[in-house]
Amino acid sequence: MLKRSLAPPRLGVNGERLLERLLALAEIGAIEGGGCCRLALTDADRRGRDLVVGWMRDLGLEITIDRIGNIIAVRRGVEDTEPVMTGSHIDTVATGGKYDGNLGVLAALEVVATLNDAGIATRRPLAIGIFTNEEGARFAPDMLGSLVYAGGLPVEEALAIRGIDGAMLGEELARIGYAGSTPCGAIKPHAYVELHIEQGPILDTEGVTIGAVHDLQGISWQEVTITGQSNHAGTTPMRLRRDAGYCAAAISYEVRRLVREFGANQVGTVGVINLHPNLINVVAARAKVTVDLRNTDESVLQDAERRLSAFLNELAEAEKVRIETRRLARFEPVIFDESIVRLIEETAGELGYSHRRMTSGAGHDAQMIARLCPAAMIFVPSRNGISHNPAEFTEPFDLEAGANVLLGAVMKLAG
Ligand code: HGY
Ligand code: MN
Ligand code: MN
Repeated sequence: MLKRSLAPPRLGVNGERLLERLLALAEIGAIEGGGCCRLALTDADRRGRDLVVGWMRDLGLEITIDRIGNIIAVRRGVEDTEPVMTGSHIDTVATGGKYDGNLGVLAALEVVATLNDAGIATRRPLAIGIFTNEEGARFAPDMLGSLVYAGGLPVEEALAIRGIDGAMLGEELARIGYAGSTPCGAIKPHAYVELHIEQGPILDTEGVTIGAVHDLQGISWQEVTITGQSNHAGTTPMRLRRDAGYCAAAISYEVRRLVREFGANQVGTVGVINLHPNLINVVAARAKVTVDLRNTDESVLQDAERRLSAFLNELAEAEKVRIETRRLARFEPVIFDESIVRLIEETAGELGYSHRRMTSGAGHDAQMIARLCPAAMIFVPSRNGISHNPAEFTEPFDLEAGANVLLGAVMKLAG
């Protein structure tokens, strides 16, 4: 009896090799609880960049560093034409996990390694991007490197940005040896696909393996500085106080109240509250508060911003303090390219992975590169939806599944 002819073995990534690289990179800047701290342009970020650039060289990729420190590594194609681009970031927040950003970069390396092992040449070149300062935790705005790459911010302006520690971005870039000379955006991609962990609870709750991301919500970041008057906590009558500490707390309460009133997709976070002098028996003279508002609907997001601004004016009046705001980031919602979203769904289906369309609650480099070419994203589940937390975790099966879908999508786009 004829043996049922098996379909030719489908090309697949090497999940162990991918996991090994993820764990090796996670050693750099490792923190308590299994996470990472590689804030942008710190020595830990440099060590992470050096490690990954070494792997890129081992894979025979041609590497350029541009003026904002983006690392672009190219695998030649049969034709010398616009490449299919993929990648992400390897900087982390201070209490980051092993997978945020890192998965997108290392899965891209795994795609190249798989093609190299199979001796497959693609018609189009492949380009892998490691974009500078995606997190925006040290230097705002976030997605800075890809924003400059996409022409959304002049590189000179970006290099002059001061971080939360007072350091200047351009000086830090030079200090870690990644102040490249290549103009930003020198390589225009034909298409862009980014693999990323979902960082939310949807795929994990629904037991779905692959997210085909079709849109990404708008982001509004601002820093609010309240100037009151330091005074004695015991002797100063309440009616005479100009209490910046109270105002900081009132702003945090109002953000939550506003978000509850708006409901639907509105989210709001007060992530930073710094008081000065921050002492038990001194009425705070000064406070710095950050407000992160996001919504999939641009007009509602603008409404939330207006409402907060009105609240700040009333608060300043009532508490006899000065309130100044500084915009740190503002990106409108992005709709990704329908044909690439469909290609991701199709590829996931062919590979037998469950999949669903979804929105990205987080910002990503893909939203910036989408200004240059058709772009979309692939998500894989985050256990319990946890991210920006050392406990961030994605099952090895899901890591491999995401990399296989990336391999399939990239091969279709690269011909
Ligand atoms: O803030 C964000 O959404 C991303 O992690 N930078
Ligand atoms: Mn990320
Ligand atoms: Mn992040």
